[in-house]
Amino acid sequence: MTENDSGQMFQGVKRAVVAGTGSAVPAKILNNADLEKMVDTSDEWIVTRTGIKERRIISEGESTASLAIEAAEKALKDAKVSAKEVDLIICSTITPEMVFPATACFVQDGIGAAHCCAFDLAAACSGFTYAVASAASFIAAGQHKTALIVGAETLSTITNYEDRGSCILFGDGAGAMVLKAGDDQERGVLYSSLHADGGGWQTLSCQAYGSRNPVSRPLANPDSVYMEINGRETYQLAVRRIVDLVNESCRVCGLSIDDIAMIVPHQMNARIIESVVKRLRIPDEKMYVNIDKYGNTSSASIAIALDEALHNGHLKKGDLVALVAFGAGLTWALNLIRL
Ligand code: UT7
Repeated sequence: MTENDSGQMFQGVKRAVVAGTGSAVPAKILNNADLEKMVDTSDEWIVTRTGIKERRIISEGESTASLAIEAAEKALKDAKVSAKEVDLIICSTITPEMVFPATACFVQDGIGAAHCCAFDLAAACSGFTYAVASAASFIAAGQHKTALIVGAETLSTITNYEDRGSCILFGDGAGAMVLKAGDDQERGVLYSSLHADGGGWQTLSCQAYGSRNPVSRPLANPDSVYMEINGRETYQLAVRRIVDLVNESCRVCGLSIDDIAMIVPHQMNARIIESVVKRLRIPDEKMYVNIDKYGNTSSASIAIALDEALHNGHLKKGDLVALVAFGAGLTWALNLIRL
């Protein structure tokens, strides 16, 4: 393996090895027939253009932290790791429990992890891949031994259910992963490549209530409390960025695309994923897709999909998996992990 400018190779150091995963979604289903009653759309349009059939939406009493805690507890159980062993929690979210404190602190309290640091990370749909890379770096540096990373979102709280161009896409959910320090150089997070282009921030944003549009001032545009997306632009950029990231990673790591057992992409649109499959010239079954059930859950989507693939037999120990995402920021990122 060689090194390049943008990627990070973990060599001759502690590896961050996947010890367990978990996920949680709300019980309440919002299907395409429900959306037909809310906006001028149809099941046929949504399925054809996005591949989404239904998504999960929180009910009274559920929140980003409650989903994150449930996913985290399942991941700890799967990893056979006690909360007391966790020394680092990173929660990726753009729909935090509160402005502050960090949702990661609610997770720490919820699971009873007494001795650890906990912080949130905001890289939107690329958040989970950024969190994997961050935790792997902390572990490689010897600073932490057992990391819990969570991608948790309640996008329904910032979705405009009067905008048919966006409300059909998003859902709520959380996924978690336990990463443990290991000495086997062939296993764990082998490579990460993280990117950002803040110049493209207007492509995907939610502008209230940050310091630019504070709660103390009437909003110039009341709809700025909701996510605004330029769907077409995102679509085209996402395909290009994801294909380039996978090809670049293979080249830098001296791998062929055939060495990757499965790609677990951010679930943003089934057609985007199909375009990536075509351009990479890989069989359909090498790309994990579950967007039909959950829609786009931003930073939770890869974590939920990976948990599902590991527990339904699509992935097994020893497989090389690529997690790859594109989203607001703009941000895009990839992790190569030997399970
Ligand atoms: O994870 C990051 C966030 N995710 C994204 O940003 C999503 C990425 N983009 C996409 O998934 C797709 O671009 C969309 C699903 C959002 C839109 O699909 P599209 O094939 O790019 O459609 P379009 O925006 O080009 O719109 C085509 C037509 C328009 O009508 P006209 O102007 O041709 O008459 C839209 O008004 O489809 C219309 N349209 C709809 N029709 C029925 C847009 N939304 C809907 C809808 N139902 N829900």
